[in-house]
Amino acid sequence: MRYLITTALAYTNGPLHLGHVRSTYIPADILYKYLKLKGEDVIHVGGTDNHGVPILLKAEKEGKNPEEIVEKYHNEIKRDLDSLNIEFDAFGKTHSPIHIKTAQEFFLKLLENGYIYEKEIEQFYCESCKKFLPDRYVEGICPYCGGEARGDHCESCGRHLEPYELKEVRCVLCGNKPVIKRTKHYFFKLSALKEELENYIKNSKEMPEHVKNLALNWIKELRDWDVSRDISWGVPIPGSNQVMYVWLEAPIGYISFTKMLGDIWKKYWLEDCKIYHFIGKDITVHHAVFWPGMLIAHGSYNLPTAVVSGGYLTLEGKKMSTSKNWVIWVNDFVKYIEGDYLRYYLVMAAPLFKDCDFSFDDFKAKINNELINIIGNFTHRVLTFTHRKFKEIPIVNEEELKEEDKGFLKLINKTVEDVDNLIRTFKFRDALVKILHLASEGNTYFQKMEPWNIKDDERLKQILYCCCKAVKTISYLLYSYMPNKSKQLLELMNEELDLNLRGNKLKKPKIIFKKVDEEVEKLKNLLYSNKDNNGEKMDLISIDDFAKIDLRVGKIIEAEDIPKSKKLLKVIVDLGNEKRQIVAGIKNYYKPEELIGKKVIIVANLKPAKLCGVKSEGMILAAEDDEGNVSLLTLDRDLKEGSKVR
Ligand code: 2FM
Ligand code: ZN
Repeated sequence: MRYLITTALAYTNGPLHLGHVRSTYIPADILYKYLKLKGEDVIHVGGTDNHGVPILLKAEKEGKNPEEIVEKYHNEIKRDLDSLNIEFDAFGKTHSPIHIKTAQEFFLKLLENGYIYEKEIEQFYCESCKKFLPDRYVEGICPYCGGEARGDHCESCGRHLEPYELKEVRCVLCGNKPVIKRTKHYFFKLSALKEELENYIKNSKEMPEHVKNLALNWIKELRDWDVSRDISWGVPIPGSNQVMYVWLEAPIGYISFTKMLGDIWKKYWLEDCKIYHFIGKDITVHHAVFWPGMLIAHGSYNLPTAVVSGGYLTLEGKKMSTSKNWVIWVNDFVKYIEGDYLRYYLVMAAPLFKDCDFSFDDFKAKINNELINIIGNFTHRVLTFTHRKFKEIPIVNEEELKEEDKGFLKLINKTVEDVDNLIRTFKFRDALVKILHLASEGNTYFQKMEPWNIKDDERLKQILYCCCKAVKTISYLLYSYMPNKSKQLLELMNEELDLNLRGNKLKKPKIIFKKVDEEVEKLKNLLYSNKDNNGEKMDLISIDDFAKIDLRVGKIIEAEDIPKSKKLLKVIVDLGNEKRQIVAGIKNYYKPEELIGKKVIIVANLKPAKLCGVKSEGMILAAEDDEGNVSLLTLDRDLKEGSKVR
């Protein structure tokens, strides 16, 4: 069979974080490596999505032109993928000539086939920016839930919105209220494809159930699709001054980038081939409805065999957010921890179709207690023991083995078979669990056989043969999950990446799986630094900013109630060479008399102000916890009034 695996084209407005690789790239690469290992005709095609408003906005924010932004992030994205050993046969850009040409031809074909028509619509137009405002250029309030909406998408309820549905609209560039202007747009006749799409989805045998359900639901109310935009960044629509909507042209990238391989692209798109699109679940509809709709309307290409949509990843129990810096970038991760461990963890943490949480504690536990204690331990003890005894992998006649050995060999073969079925049906976690189970049974077998007590070399060889066979099989099966670790194990055994045991000389064993501890702490510190304990991003100040605040030790010498106020007390503070009157909001926490004589910390250079009509010349510092308990900051050792706080 022939296979084309694609991965969602990441927008070039930032590097990759753990969410991208968990839902999409790691599972795709596992299938790719596995099928390739099995000798199948398989290619992995991916790249970056360079058009669309988010990239324009990013360019505007960084004061660069969009090409520069695309170049920068395209390279960073590829760097991140390389760092996790994610391999591609072709990795393209949607801003490349081959894509622009392919997308334009595709568009013209849709037009020729009668699936594109023109219609006048109303669009927001910003008179101060002199621009139409498509998609994310406008912000406002969602008419359905009242939440914050950005262009065509409500952040709160997740609904798709037509821009003119928004309330309290403003232009994101200048904040002004846009006007509505008429403009002619191209529409894709999606509604005409209802029946064909329904049949396609229903008959797609390999399409995951949750994807089918979502698609069928969506198909019930198919609206035609506005596919042109009045901006200049994008794929120009031939014979028009508009560009294609990014979601129309981006998936065509799967075809354009396959073309980067030369004429053989046709094998994958025009001849018999299974096409698997790996994506994150937020873009399931685009891949399971809109894109097949486009392909049906075009008429020449293969339709997706399966859309493999991975669940969301949360971070330490909270939604990831790049704007709040609540995110782990792949590039930061691999500075501290081997990429293979991330690949292992993100698969093991939850089944692909389920949402999943990245937690540092769980990461440490899964790596140290599972991967290392089970797989690391079994492979290491077998290789060291065998090396010490025989220096090479013993080869024996399997027919002469004892029943208990044969039972173990049977498990080895069964694991190979199970893993094959599971990986081919996208059950990457279940397959990995099988590999782990084999190692665990291996440990049990080793323990039970007590090879250290066996004097008969021939019998010892039989046992170690079975153990080495298990280690070899584990190394082979681990390859698509942890390619580096797998290669290191095979190297110690002097073995090739296959399932045959050759009986070669063993290299001097060394520990391949090392526990993670400090590295995890470092990464955790990185995430939590710059954040308060709610995980919110904090604004950092420089030491010079801090030095602007004149903090002094002051002694409270008088304190009295301000009867008009519920919260305020008036205090007189001795700063050594002067006395200050300060109004403090501590009435609910301190009685005036208990304040007298306390040495506290004062902001001495705060602009004077009047509170409740009473003059205040400074501020007394106090701390407050989440439950509203308040405590004045006092001195740990006695110091003179007026002492500086630095
Ligand atoms: O959601 C996204 O990140 C898009 N850039 C994915 C595009 S995938 C394909 F359709 F090109
Ligand atoms: Zn504007």
